[in-house]
Amino acid sequence: MVIEKICCLGAGYVGGPTCSVIALKCPNIKVTVCDKSIERINQWNSEKLPIYEPGLDDVVRQCRGRNLFFSTDIARSIQEADLIFISVNTPTKTIGNGKGRAADLKYIEGAARMIADLATSNKIVVEKSTVPVKAAEIIMKILRANTKPGVEYQILSNPEFLAEGTAIVDLVEAERVLIGGEDTPEGQKAIQELCWVYEHWIPAKNILTTNTWSSELSKLAANAFLAQRISSINSLSAVCEATGADVSEVARAVGRDSRIGPKFLEASIGFGGSCFQKDILNLIYLSECLNLPEVAAYWQQVVNLNDYQKTRFTRKVIESLFNTVSDKNIAILGFSFKKNTGDTRESPAIYVCKTLLDEGAKLHIYDPKVEVDQIYYELMHPQITNEPELVKKNIHIHNSAYSAVSGAHAIVLCTEWDEFKELDYRKIYHVMMKPAYLFDGRKILDHNMLLSIGFHVQTIGKRLSRASSIRAQGSQTQP
Ligand code: UDX
Ligand code: UDX
Ligand code: ADP
Repeated sequence: MVIEKICCLGAGYVGGPTCSVIALKCPNIKVTVCDKSIERINQWNSEKLPIYEPGLDDVVRQCRGRNLFFSTDIARSIQEADLIFISVNTPTKTIGNGKGRAADLKYIEGAARMIADLATSNKIVVEKSTVPVKAAEIIMKILRANTKPGVEYQILSNPEFLAEGTAIVDLVEAERVLIGGEDTPEGQKAIQELCWVYEHWIPAKNILTTNTWSSELSKLAANAFLAQRISSINSLSAVCEATGADVSEVARAVGRDSRIGPKFLEASIGFGGSCFQKDILNLIYLSECLNLPEVAAYWQQVVNLNDYQKTRFTRKVIESLFNTVSDKNIAILGFSFKKNTGDTRESPAIYVCKTLLDEGAKLHIYDPKVEVDQIYYELMHPQITNEPELVKKNIHIHNSAYSAVSGAHAIVLCTEWDEFKELDYRKIYHVMMKPAYLFDGRKILDHNMLLSIGFHVQTIGKRLSRASSIRAQGSQTQP
């Protein structure tokens, strides 16, 4: 079978960009991205796409209406497709068995049942969403228990490794594509057919094929390893603050060892995003189910350390402000979980804001890409507060950093947006309350310059002493 038509179930952060790039690179394949949300599909068909991702607008503009379509006609797209990606959401369960840890696979199951109902010809079904190991088995069981005469399924695992904010580059220049399938002639044939799609632009040597379970576990392992590096460097950031070492210098020295490597060693207020915590929790749950409590405890510590880092930073903010933020104006710069995305899922900024709000602060929030409603949604969520109206009264959302900082007692920088490095901090200092505090949760600003202006500065993994502040001020006033 040559793949002529692809359908993708789920037009989210994974399905949307992935299929847009497939359409760009495979002009001979018709790609239809479906979602059960009409609103989402309407956004994909409009000038303002539902997600912000550098370069995505251009790709969609080139392909939409040519061989890329966004549709709610799921039945038709499934029926005509040779290959179906399942890219639906897999949130962590909030009730029942495995609550708070296991992935809720109801949307995966729903998608598989929909395919089973509607398919009238052979399909390759590809699991793309991040899922716990053995999720492919669920899809397999549902499809094979509902097979109609003349319809055969092959189920593949093809996890996505894109990071938000760099999704298009990650897809176009993928370091590796991973495809897992069954070790049968039909399984191997399906793997080759999906390889053919990627070989339109990915060198064959970068396409790895494995069995289904290795593929599923590799995705969880990759994210767990990445998150573990961040927790490792963040744990050392606490040691640095207590000793006078500088975590950036430590990271530079450690990362120079090619066995360790320099990437992903930025100390921060903690990792966020929809994947890291969820995938580690999946790995923990899997380990517990397999009766491997030591393995579960090892990975649990990565999450615990991340929570500790968020708490530690927020505590530092409150303690510095004379142990009370009640009725103080605090400017929050950045709300997304990292720069170059409008995504707020598991953003550490949510925890910081929640704690400050619980202590009675008035927050002035600015983020270059997060939608206003999204900020309200996150901070008024029942899991965050049981006083949503009070929260609403205490948050003010601004459309520029300068507006957010005006009259503030303190600035708390939560996301490493480039534009925060370019702000005129002299101007900002003059419009703030004094003493003016600045907490750099991403270690991106020029701290000596800020100290010399007169700010009280605190950051992650580096002690900025009062003495150095006075020295810096002194060097400024005595040229
Ligand atoms: C991650 C993986 O990188 C990607 O391969 C996978 O497909 C999905 O999960 P994503 O969550 O989009 O991607 O972003 P990532 O760049 O990994 O950042 C995750 C979090 O870690 C962010 O909050 C980021 O600020 C933080 N981070 C990252 C650090 O705190 N320090 C670092 O050195 C790197
Ligand atoms: C280590 C550091 O590598 C070195 O930089 C430092 O100066 C001293 O400590 P060493 O202990 O001599 O060096 O050997 P190393 O090659 O690091 O191996 C340490 C142990 O880890 C060995 O028992 C080795 O078998 C084991 N190991 C290493 C693994 O089990 N798996 C690996 O992938 C690598
Ligand atoms: P991700 O980050 O994994 O891409 P998102 O939440 O951004 O997750 O996107 C998942 C999308 O999948 C949502 O827009 C949701 O409406 C959609 N979805 C869930 N179940 C189905 C289904 N059975 N058919 C089509 N779309 C679905």
